[in-house]
Amino acid sequence: MRRDFISVLDADPHDLTLLLDSAARMKRARGEAGDRRILAGKCLAMVFEKASTRTRVSFEVGMEELGGHAIFLNPNDLQLGRGEEIRDTARVLSRYAAAVMIRAFKHGTIEEFARYSTIPVINGLSDREHPCQTLGDLLTLREHFGSTDGLSVAWIGDGNNVCHSLILAAAMAGVDLAVASPARYRPDRGIVEAARAAGAKIRVIGDPREAARDADALYTDVWVSMGEEAERAERLAAFRGYTIDASLLSLASPDAIVLHCLPAHRGEEITDEVLEGPQSIVWDQAENRLHTEKALLATLLG
Ligand code: CP
Ligand code: NVA
Repeated sequence: MRRDFISVLDADPHDLTLLLDSAARMKRARGEAGDRRILAGKCLAMVFEKASTRTRVSFEVGMEELGGHAIFLNPNDLQLGRGEEIRDTARVLSRYAAAVMIRAFKHGTIEEFARYSTIPVINGLSDREHPCQTLGDLLTLREHFGSTDGLSVAWIGDGNNVCHSLILAAAMAGVDLAVASPARYRPDRGIVEAARAAGAKIRVIGDPREAARDADALYTDVWVSMGEEAERAERLAAFRGYTIDASLLSLASPDAIVLHCLPAHRGEEITDEVLEGPQSIVWDQAENRLHTEKALLATLLG
């Protein structure tokens, strides 16, 4: 596996299988003493330009469970917030920590950080990708269905960072993806083409009902991502009709599951009824961030 995990494509299909196998093992063995030696004495520096619940806590708890330690760094408390350059911060943190996890507004910030780092850099979400989310999603699908191969997943809503990482993983996971988004909010064309060139079966369409029909999983995310707050009114208008509600879910396979990376906005991209309903496995999905990130940390730092 490559040194950094900035894109889902930093793992190849073999790496991905090993990561998911390792995550499943760590999930079963959670709490056993052996795993506490894996990253003993190692420190993960975590830089968050934006809010986070799952990513922050799962990485921090994950480091702790592997015997290491994590430090939370708010850019406004670092000299970064006073204009120290990314390349300088990257070289300095490389002298202290064993790895850096960054959640940044711009994907380029994480890439620049990695260029100047001598330690692994992990993308904790950018405007382009959320690869750690995809690892948890694939483990969740695999646990539920036994394998991801041949599953049909319908992404309903914004063709955003979370959607991009899922698209880029589709070929590796053998998942057929239907993405239903309003015309202005479709996933990046270059990402879709790259995924198709890698063998992914992806349909990008406008009709959420067509995407949902007979799907094994319906997946959605917020309509207004962090950093897009100024577009809220325009986005809420554009996404009308893209809510995962009971009627949309009824079109999917009777055994279909519902995924959401969270945080959820009930009444916007998903109804309370569906999020709280028996087909929703969003809490397992959130938990799986911990297990997959532990596997990732052990692979990159172990
Ligand atoms: N899904 C996810 O990354 O959640 P947070 O923004 O809470 O980290
Ligand atoms: N698309 C969302 C995901 C949050 C985990 C955002 O970028 O805000």
